[in-house]
Amino acid sequence: MALTFRKLHPYFVAEVSPVDLRQVYDSETLAQIRAGMDEYAVLVFRAQPFADDEQLAFAQRLDGQLHTKTGISALRKNRLGNEALGDISNLDEHGEILKSDDRRRMYGLGNRLWHTDASFQDPPGRYSILSAKIIPSSGTDTEFADMRAAYDALSPEMKAQLEGLRVHHSIAHSRQTLGFEFSQDEQAILKGAVHPLIRTLPRSQRKSLYVAAHASKIIDWPVPEGRLLLRDLMEHATQPEFVYRHAWRAGDLVIWDNRATMHRAKPFDDAKYRRELRRVTTLDVEPPALSVSES
Ligand code: OGA
Ligand code: MN
Repeated sequence: MALTFRKLHPYFVAEVSPVDLRQVYDSETLAQIRAGMDEYAVLVFRAQPFADDEQLAFAQRLDGQLHTKTGISALRKNRLGNEALGDISNLDEHGEILKSDDRRRMYGLGNRLWHTDASFQDPPGRYSILSAKIIPSSGTDTEFADMRAAYDALSPEMKAQLEGLRVHHSIAHSRQTLGFEFSQDEQAILKGAVHPLIRTLPRSQRKSLYVAAHASKIIDWPVPEGRLLLRDLMEHATQPEFVYRHAWRAGDLVIWDNRATMHRAKPFDDAKYRRELRRVTTLDVEPPALSVSES
């Protein structure tokens, strides 16, 4: 089935022509979606009435292994009963809106910082696949920034300076910037991970700036100096020209490449309105080797 991609921003993001992803099994259509991800880094699919198990199955067909240990796992049992199914909502286990001082709400507020999913783990997240269930009628958008375009726009001197640098990412760090503290036990299982500051995307060979709210220090650099550089890069990468803002409709499915983008949630009146989405994130590992039966 031939898909068409309608670009929504000068640098990235495309809306894909009508298709029911629950029915997409053939390798040719899946390959078109992967190629679309390489080019646009964020794909928007409208009217995708996924059940949870269908969303999990689609993510595996598209990109292989699933992430099961996102930061929240340390804090609470998953409301949805499956650690691979991210609960992106302001609801408790009874489906009630979380109280404003609830610790789970405080934790979730971290999504309002520019970030990339699971960069504080190794392997980190590759694709995130977010399905919108309940969306309030106003606000509640998500912004995305193109980290390949942000890299391309750096000066040659800056690109040379950044080459080879490695960065420590930690969820304790990003949450602490909001005043959220993890207990000793929680910190013990959230040690963070080290990743290159510049990533080369294997299929497109484009380079991308891999920074996020979780980026806590540059390895082998004095901490304040590293943090200043990371702040400058975040500021550079989130200038309006690199940013797309997605206005959600219930039924939307958005897939983004965490190696090539950052994102953040925009504020809304979350004490008043329910907002519920489900996220499945794949692991950034080598895709499974293709069958070699033809050789
Ligand atoms: C996420 C996330 C932002 C939002 O699902 O990973 O950061 O607007 N979501 O809910
Ligand atoms: Mn996120």
